[in-house]
Amino acid sequence: MTPSASPGSLPATGREWHLTARPQGWPTPADFALREAPVAHPGEGQILVRNLHFSVDPYMRGRMNDVKSYVPPFPLDEPMEGGAVGVVLASGSEKFAAGDHVLHNSGWREYATLDARHATAVSPGIAPLPAFLGVLGMPGLTAYSGLLEVASFKPGDTVFVSGAAGAVGSEVGQIAKLKGAARVIGSAGSAEKVRVLTEEYGFDAAFNYKEGPVAEQLKAAAPDGIDVYFDNVGGEHLEAAISSFNVHGRATICGMISQYNATEPPAAPRNLALVIGKRLRIQGMLVMDHADLKQQFFEEVSAWIRSGELKYRETVVNGIENGVDAFLGMLKGENTGKMIVSLDA
Ligand SMILES: NC(=O)c1ccc[n+]([C@@H]2O[C@H](COP(=O)([O-])OP(=O)(O)OC[C@H]3O[C@@H](n4cnc5c(N)ncnc54)[C@H](OP(=O)(O)O)[C@@H]3O)[C@@H](O)[C@H]2O)c1
Repeated sequence: MTPSASPGSLPATGREWHLTARPQGWPTPADFALREAPVAHPGEGQILVRNLHFSVDPYMRGRMNDVKSYVPPFPLDEPMEGGAVGVVLASGSEKFAAGDHVLHNSGWREYATLDARHATAVSPGIAPLPAFLGVLGMPGLTAYSGLLEVASFKPGDTVFVSGAAGAVGSEVGQIAKLKGAARVIGSAGSAEKVRVLTEEYGFDAAFNYKEGPVAEQLKAAAPDGIDVYFDNVGGEHLEAAISSFNVHGRATICGMISQYNATEPPAAPRNLALVIGKRLRIQGMLVMDHADLKQQFFEEVSAWIRSGELKYRETVVNGIENGVDAFLGMLKGENTGKMIVSLDA
Protein backbone atom coordinates (compact mmCIF):
# COMPACT_ATOMS: atom_id res chain seq x y z
CA MET A 1 0.00 0.00 0.00
CA THR A 2 1.38 3.44 -0.85
CA PRO A 3 1.21 6.23 1.75
CA SER A 4 -1.99 8.30 1.57
CA ALA A 5 -0.23 11.68 1.29
CA SER A 6 2.27 12.98 -1.24
CA PRO A 7 5.87 12.94 0.08
CA GLY A 8 6.35 16.58 -0.97
CA SER A 9 3.72 17.74 1.53
CA LEU A 10 5.33 15.96 4.49
CA PRO A 11 7.76 17.57 6.93
CA ALA A 12 11.45 16.92 6.28
CA THR A 13 12.59 17.43 9.88
CA GLY A 14 11.11 17.72 13.36
CA ARG A 15 12.28 18.39 16.90
CA GLU A 16 12.61 15.65 19.51
CA TRP A 17 13.83 15.48 23.12
CA HIS A 18 16.86 13.29 23.85
CA LEU A 19 18.22 12.22 27.22
CA THR A 20 21.91 13.13 27.05
CA ALA A 21 23.12 12.17 30.56
CA ARG A 22 21.88 9.93 33.38
CA PRO A 23 20.65 12.19 36.22
CA GLN A 24 22.04 11.61 39.73
CA GLY A 25 19.31 12.71 42.13
CA TRP A 26 17.14 15.49 40.69
CA PRO A 27 17.37 15.76 36.88
CA THR A 28 18.33 19.17 35.48
CA PRO A 29 17.73 20.68 32.03
CA ALA A 30 21.41 19.95 31.25
CA ASP A 31 20.55 16.20 31.15
CA PHE A 32 18.37 16.72 28.04
CA ALA A 33 18.64 18.20 24.54
CA LEU A 34 16.00 19.27 22.03
CA ARG A 35 17.36 18.20 18.64
CA GLU A 36 16.23 18.50 15.04
CA ALA A 37 16.11 15.16 13.21
CA PRO A 38 14.93 13.90 9.80
CA VAL A 39 11.32 12.68 9.67
CA ALA A 40 11.02 9.19 8.13
CA HIS A 41 8.19 8.80 5.65
CA PRO A 42 5.96 5.83 6.47
CA GLY A 43 6.69 2.50 4.83
CA GLU A 44 4.38 -0.49 4.44
CA GLY A 45 2.25 -0.90 7.61
CA GLN A 46 3.48 2.39 9.10
CA ILE A 47 1.94 5.78 9.84
CA LEU A 48 3.43 9.25 10.17
CA VAL A 49 1.81 11.21 13.01
CA ARG A 50 2.00 14.88 13.95
CA ASN A 51 1.88 14.84 17.73
CA LEU A 52 -0.64 17.25 19.24
CA HIS A 53 -0.14 16.47 22.94
CA PHE A 54 2.31 14.30 24.86
CA SER A 55 2.43 13.06 28.41
CA VAL A 56 5.12 13.54 31.04
CA ASP A 57 4.84 10.92 33.78
CA PRO A 58 6.64 10.07 37.02
CA TYR A 59 7.69 6.60 35.76
CA MET A 60 9.86 8.30 33.13
CA ARG A 61 12.26 9.30 35.91
CA GLY A 62 12.96 5.60 36.48
CA ARG A 63 13.69 5.10 32.78
CA MET A 64 16.44 7.72 33.03
CA ASN A 65 18.47 5.39 35.30
CA ASP A 66 20.59 2.64 33.79
CA VAL A 67 19.10 -0.14 35.89
CA LYS A 68 17.15 -3.32 35.18
CA SER A 69 13.43 -2.68 35.61
CA TYR A 70 10.05 -3.61 34.14
CA VAL A 71 10.78 -1.23 31.25
CA PRO A 72 14.25 -0.71 29.72
CA PRO A 73 16.17 2.53 30.37
CA PHE A 74 15.89 5.36 27.83
CA PRO A 75 18.97 5.07 25.59
CA LEU A 76 21.14 8.19 25.60
CA ASP A 77 21.04 10.49 22.56
CA GLU A 78 17.85 9.01 21.15
CA PRO A 79 14.29 10.33 21.34
CA MET A 80 12.58 9.58 24.64
CA GLU A 81 9.27 7.71 24.60
CA GLY A 82 5.91 8.15 26.28
CA GLY A 83 2.20 8.51 25.64
CA ALA A 84 1.12 10.92 22.89
CA VAL A 85 -1.93 11.73 20.82
CA GLY A 86 -1.71 13.12 17.34
CA VAL A 87 -3.10 13.27 13.85
CA VAL A 88 -2.05 10.93 11.04
CA LEU A 89 -0.35 12.85 8.22
CA ALA A 90 0.38 9.88 5.98
CA SER A 91 -0.46 6.22 6.18
CA GLY A 92 1.00 3.06 4.67
CA SER A 93 -1.52 0.99 6.59
CA GLU A 94 -5.13 0.06 5.93
CA LYS A 95 -5.83 0.59 9.63
CA PHE A 96 -5.57 4.42 9.49
CA ALA A 97 -6.01 7.22 6.96
CA ALA A 98 -4.60 10.74 6.95
CA GLY A 99 -6.64 12.88 9.35
CA ASP A 100 -7.31 10.08 11.87
CA HIS A 101 -6.42 10.73 15.50
CA VAL A 102 -4.29 8.14 17.29
CA LEU A 103 -2.83 7.35 20.71
CA HIS A 104 0.67 5.84 20.72
CA ASN A 105 3.91 5.70 22.70
CA SER A 106 6.26 7.84 20.56
CA GLY A 107 5.91 11.08 22.52
CA TRP A 108 8.56 13.72 23.32
CA ARG A 109 8.74 14.66 19.59
CA GLU A 110 6.86 16.67 17.00
CA TYR A 111 6.53 13.89 14.41
CA ALA A 112 6.50 10.14 14.92
CA THR A 113 6.78 7.38 12.34
CA LEU A 114 5.61 4.07 13.78
CA ASP A 115 4.02 0.75 13.01
CA ALA A 116 0.25 1.17 12.80
CA ARG A 117 -0.20 -1.84 15.10
CA HIS A 118 1.34 0.24 17.91
CA ALA A 119 -1.32 2.96 17.57
CA THR A 120 -4.93 3.05 18.82
CA ALA A 121 -7.69 5.16 17.28
CA VAL A 122 -9.06 7.93 19.53
CA SER A 123 -11.92 10.26 18.80
CA PRO A 124 -12.08 13.92 19.81
CA GLY A 125 -15.87 13.43 19.60
CA ILE A 126 -15.74 11.26 22.73
CA ALA A 127 -13.46 13.46 24.83
CA PRO A 128 -10.89 16.21 24.27
CA LEU A 129 -7.70 14.52 23.04
CA PRO A 130 -5.54 15.15 26.16
CA ALA A 131 -8.07 13.14 28.22
CA PHE A 132 -6.78 9.99 26.47
CA LEU A 133 -3.42 10.63 28.20
CA GLY A 134 -4.99 11.19 31.62
CA VAL A 135 -8.45 10.61 32.99
CA LEU A 136 -9.40 8.16 30.19
CA GLY A 137 -5.89 6.86 29.62
CA MET A 138 -3.08 5.08 31.44
CA PRO A 139 -3.35 7.05 34.73
CA GLY A 140 -7.12 6.53 34.76
CA LEU A 141 -6.82 2.78 34.28
CA THR A 142 -4.19 2.74 37.02
CA ALA A 143 -6.61 4.42 39.42
CA TYR A 144 -9.55 2.20 38.46
CA SER A 145 -7.73 -1.15 38.54
CA GLY A 146 -5.53 -0.25 41.50
CA LEU A 147 -8.50 0.63 43.67
CA LEU A 148 -11.15 -1.83 42.54
CA GLU A 149 -9.03 -4.88 41.74
CA VAL A 150 -5.68 -4.62 43.53
CA ALA A 151 -7.00 -3.11 46.78
CA SER A 152 -10.24 -5.19 46.59
CA PHE A 153 -12.23 -2.05 47.44
CA LYS A 154 -15.62 -2.65 49.09
CA PRO A 155 -18.46 -0.16 49.69
CA GLY A 156 -18.16 1.12 53.25
CA ASP A 157 -14.34 1.21 53.18
CA THR A 158 -12.50 4.27 54.44
CA VAL A 159 -9.90 5.11 51.79
CA PHE A 160 -6.74 7.20 52.05
CA VAL A 161 -4.93 8.28 48.87
CA SER A 162 -1.65 10.17 48.67
CA GLY A 163 -0.69 12.31 45.69
CA ALA A 164 -4.41 12.96 45.72
CA ALA A 165 -4.50 16.05 43.51
CA GLY A 166 -2.50 14.36 40.73
CA ALA A 167 -3.73 12.44 37.71
CA VAL A 168 -4.02 9.02 39.38
CA GLY A 169 -4.85 10.18 42.92
CA SER A 170 -7.71 12.51 42.02
CA GLU A 171 -9.40 9.71 40.10
CA VAL A 172 -8.86 7.13 42.87
CA GLY A 173 -10.61 9.33 45.44
CA GLN A 174 -13.57 10.11 43.20
CA ILE A 175 -14.04 6.49 42.08
CA ALA A 176 -13.99 5.43 45.74
CA LYS A 177 -16.75 7.96 46.53
CA LEU A 178 -18.80 6.91 43.49
CA LYS A 179 -18.48 3.24 44.49
CA GLY A 180 -19.72 3.83 48.05
CA ALA A 181 -16.71 4.55 50.24
CA ALA A 182 -17.66 5.54 53.80
CA ARG A 183 -14.96 8.21 53.86
CA VAL A 184 -12.22 9.37 51.47
CA ILE A 185 -9.15 11.25 52.65
CA GLY A 186 -6.47 12.75 50.44
CA SER A 187 -3.07 14.32 50.96
CA ALA A 188 -1.46 16.83 48.63
CA GLY A 189 1.29 19.43 48.66
CA SER A 190 -0.48 22.81 48.77
CA ALA A 191 -3.44 24.58 50.36
CA GLU A 192 -4.98 25.14 46.94
CA LYS A 193 -4.76 21.42 46.08
CA VAL A 194 -6.38 20.56 49.43
CA ARG A 195 -9.19 22.99 48.59
CA VAL A 196 -9.73 21.35 45.18
CA LEU A 197 -9.94 17.91 46.79
CA THR A 198 -12.66 18.79 49.27
CA GLU A 199 -14.55 21.51 47.37
CA GLU A 200 -14.43 20.18 43.79
CA TYR A 201 -13.78 16.43 43.99
CA GLY A 202 -15.92 15.65 47.04
CA PHE A 203 -13.21 14.19 49.30
CA ASP A 204 -14.46 14.07 52.91
CA ALA A 205 -11.14 15.35 54.25
CA ALA A 206 -7.76 16.41 52.91
CA PHE A 207 -4.50 17.77 54.30
CA ASN A 208 -1.27 19.37 53.16
CA TYR A 209 1.51 16.89 53.93
CA LYS A 210 4.02 19.77 54.04
CA GLU A 211 2.24 21.34 57.01
CA GLY A 212 2.97 18.72 59.67
CA PRO A 213 3.69 15.04 60.33
CA VAL A 214 1.61 12.86 57.97
CA ALA A 215 0.77 10.35 60.73
CA GLU A 216 -0.76 13.04 62.94
CA GLN A 217 -2.71 14.67 60.13
CA LEU A 218 -4.02 11.31 58.91
CA LYS A 219 -5.12 10.26 62.42
CA ALA A 220 -7.04 13.54 62.77
CA ALA A 221 -8.70 13.06 59.36
CA ALA A 222 -9.51 9.36 59.93
CA PRO A 223 -10.22 8.96 63.66
CA ASP A 224 -11.77 5.51 63.07
CA GLY A 225 -8.83 4.28 60.98
CA ILE A 226 -8.52 3.41 57.28
CA ASP A 227 -9.30 0.22 55.35
CA VAL A 228 -7.59 1.01 52.02
CA TYR A 229 -4.45 3.01 51.29
CA PHE A 230 -3.64 3.91 47.68
CA ASP A 231 0.06 4.81 47.77
CA ASN A 232 1.49 7.18 45.19
CA VAL A 233 4.21 8.57 47.45
CA GLY A 234 5.87 6.00 49.77
CA GLY A 235 8.07 6.85 52.78
CA GLU A 236 6.41 8.82 55.58
CA HIS A 237 3.00 8.45 53.90
CA LEU A 238 3.23 4.65 53.86
CA GLU A 239 4.34 4.63 57.49
CA ALA A 240 1.36 6.81 58.46
CA ALA A 241 -1.05 4.55 56.57
CA ILE A 242 0.32 1.42 58.29
CA SER A 243 -0.23 3.16 61.66
CA SER A 244 -3.79 4.15 60.77
CA PHE A 245 -4.83 0.83 59.20
CA ASN A 246 -7.68 -1.15 60.69
CA VAL A 247 -7.27 -4.93 60.78
CA HIS A 248 -7.34 -6.56 57.33
CA GLY A 249 -6.41 -3.25 55.71
CA ARG A 250 -5.23 -3.32 52.09
CA ALA A 251 -2.61 -1.12 50.45
CA THR A 252 -2.06 -0.72 46.73
CA ILE A 253 1.53 0.36 46.18
CA CYS A 254 1.18 2.24 42.91
CA GLY A 255 4.12 4.62 43.18
CA MET A 256 6.68 6.05 45.59
CA ILE A 257 7.39 9.43 44.06
CA SER A 258 9.02 10.76 47.24
CA GLN A 259 11.93 8.41 46.47
CA TYR A 260 12.38 8.79 42.70
CA ASN A 261 15.11 11.45 43.03
CA ALA A 262 16.49 10.30 46.37
CA THR A 263 20.17 9.50 46.68
CA GLU A 264 19.81 7.89 50.15
CA PRO A 265 17.57 4.96 51.20
CA PRO A 266 14.23 6.08 52.70
CA ALA A 267 13.96 6.54 56.48
CA ALA A 268 10.37 5.24 56.55
CA PRO A 269 8.36 3.03 56.93
CA ARG A 270 9.75 1.93 60.30
CA ASN A 271 6.58 0.15 61.46
CA LEU A 272 6.29 -2.79 59.04
CA ALA A 273 5.91 -5.22 61.94
CA LEU A 274 2.34 -3.91 62.39
CA VAL A 275 1.49 -5.81 59.18
CA ILE A 276 1.42 -8.99 61.26
CA GLY A 277 -1.00 -8.10 64.05
CA LYS A 278 -3.26 -6.10 61.72
CA ARG A 279 -3.11 -8.84 59.04
CA LEU A 280 -2.48 -6.22 56.35
CA ARG A 281 -2.14 -6.90 52.63
CA ILE A 282 0.38 -4.64 50.88
CA GLN A 283 0.48 -5.23 47.14
CA GLY A 284 2.42 -3.59 44.33
CA MET A 285 0.79 -3.00 40.96
CA LEU A 286 1.64 -2.26 37.33
CA VAL A 287 -1.11 -0.91 35.13
CA MET A 288 0.07 -3.06 32.22
CA ASP A 289 -1.25 -6.15 34.07
CA HIS A 290 -4.82 -4.79 33.98
CA ALA A 291 -5.54 -4.45 30.27
CA ASP A 292 -8.52 -6.80 30.76
CA LEU A 293 -10.31 -3.97 32.61
CA LYS A 294 -9.67 -1.36 29.91
CA GLN A 295 -13.07 -1.52 28.21
CA GLN A 296 -15.05 -1.61 31.47
CA PHE A 297 -12.96 1.27 32.86
CA PHE A 298 -13.41 3.34 29.72
CA GLU A 299 -17.19 2.88 29.61
CA GLU A 300 -17.75 3.53 33.31
CA VAL A 301 -15.43 6.53 33.64
CA SER A 302 -16.53 8.20 30.40
CA ALA A 303 -20.16 7.93 31.59
CA TRP A 304 -19.21 9.57 34.92
CA ILE A 305 -17.42 12.36 33.04
CA ARG A 306 -20.44 12.92 30.77
CA SER A 307 -22.80 13.06 33.76
CA GLY A 308 -20.47 15.42 35.63
CA GLU A 309 -20.08 12.96 38.52
CA LEU A 310 -16.32 12.65 37.96
CA LYS A 311 -14.29 15.82 37.49
CA TYR A 312 -10.76 16.21 36.25
CA ARG A 313 -8.19 18.88 35.71
CA GLU A 314 -5.16 19.09 33.47
CA THR A 315 -2.11 21.33 33.68
CA VAL A 316 -1.11 22.14 30.13
CA VAL A 317 2.32 23.44 29.17
CA ASN A 318 2.52 24.74 25.61
CA GLY A 319 5.40 24.14 23.21
CA ILE A 320 7.79 21.24 22.73
CA GLU A 321 10.64 23.46 23.92
CA ASN A 322 9.00 23.45 27.37
CA GLY A 323 8.69 19.64 27.56
CA VAL A 324 11.53 19.10 30.04
CA ASP A 325 10.37 22.00 32.22
CA ALA A 326 6.91 20.37 32.30
CA PHE A 327 8.43 17.04 33.35
CA LEU A 328 10.56 18.64 36.10
CA GLY A 329 7.60 20.78 37.19
CA MET A 330 5.41 17.68 37.53
CA LEU A 331 8.03 16.03 39.78
CA LYS A 332 7.97 19.19 41.94
CA GLY A 333 4.16 19.30 42.16
CA GLU A 334 3.47 22.19 39.77
CA ASN A 335 0.59 20.22 38.24
CA THR A 336 -2.97 19.75 39.42
CA GLY A 337 -4.30 16.71 37.57
CA LYS A 338 -2.51 15.35 34.52
CA MET A 339 0.55 17.24 33.27
CA ILE A 340 0.31 17.57 29.48
CA VAL A 341 2.66 19.11 26.93
CA SER A 342 0.65 20.56 24.08
CA LEU A 343 2.07 21.12 20.58
CA ASP A 344 -1.27 22.17 19.19
CA ALA A 345 -0.74 25.95 19.23
N1 LIG B 1 2.23 1.31 39.06
C1 LIG B 1 1.77 1.81 37.93
O1 LIG B 1 1.44 1.12 36.98
C2 LIG B 1 1.64 3.31 37.83
C3 LIG B 1 1.01 3.91 36.72
C4 LIG B 1 0.86 5.31 36.71
C5 LIG B 1 1.38 6.07 37.77
N2 LIG B 1 2.01 5.44 38.79
C6 LIG B 1 2.52 6.18 39.95
O2 LIG B 1 1.42 6.92 40.49
C7 LIG B 1 1.90 8.10 41.11
C8 LIG B 1 1.12 9.30 40.55
O3 LIG B 1 1.37 9.41 39.15
P1 LIG B 1 0.64 10.55 38.30
O4 LIG B 1 0.93 10.28 36.88
O5 LIG B 1 -0.76 10.65 38.74
O6 LIG B 1 1.44 11.85 38.72
P2 LIG B 1 0.81 13.15 39.40
O7 LIG B 1 0.31 12.74 40.76
O8 LIG B 1 -0.13 13.79 38.46
O9 LIG B 1 2.08 14.09 39.55
C9 LIG B 1 3.07 13.82 40.48
C10 LIG B 1 2.74 14.47 41.84
O10 LIG B 1 3.53 13.88 42.86
C11 LIG B 1 3.55 14.75 43.95
N3 LIG B 1 4.86 14.67 44.62
C12 LIG B 1 6.08 14.92 44.12
N4 LIG B 1 7.03 14.73 45.05
C13 LIG B 1 6.39 14.36 46.18
C14 LIG B 1 6.82 14.02 47.50
N5 LIG B 1 8.12 14.04 47.86
N6 LIG B 1 5.88 13.68 48.41
C15 LIG B 1 4.57 13.67 48.09
N7 LIG B 1 4.10 13.97 46.85
C16 LIG B 1 5.00 14.31 45.93
C17 LIG B 1 3.31 16.17 43.42
O11 LIG B 1 2.12 16.68 44.00
P3 LIG B 1 2.10 17.45 45.41
O12 LIG B 1 1.93 18.90 45.11
O13 LIG B 1 0.92 16.86 46.10
O14 LIG B 1 3.41 17.16 46.10
C18 LIG B 1 3.09 15.95 41.91
O15 LIG B 1 2.07 16.75 41.38
C19 LIG B 1 3.39 8.15 40.85
O16 LIG B 1 4.06 7.62 41.98
C20 LIG B 1 3.58 7.22 39.67
O17 LIG B 1 4.87 6.68 39.60
C21 LIG B 1 2.16 4.09 38.83
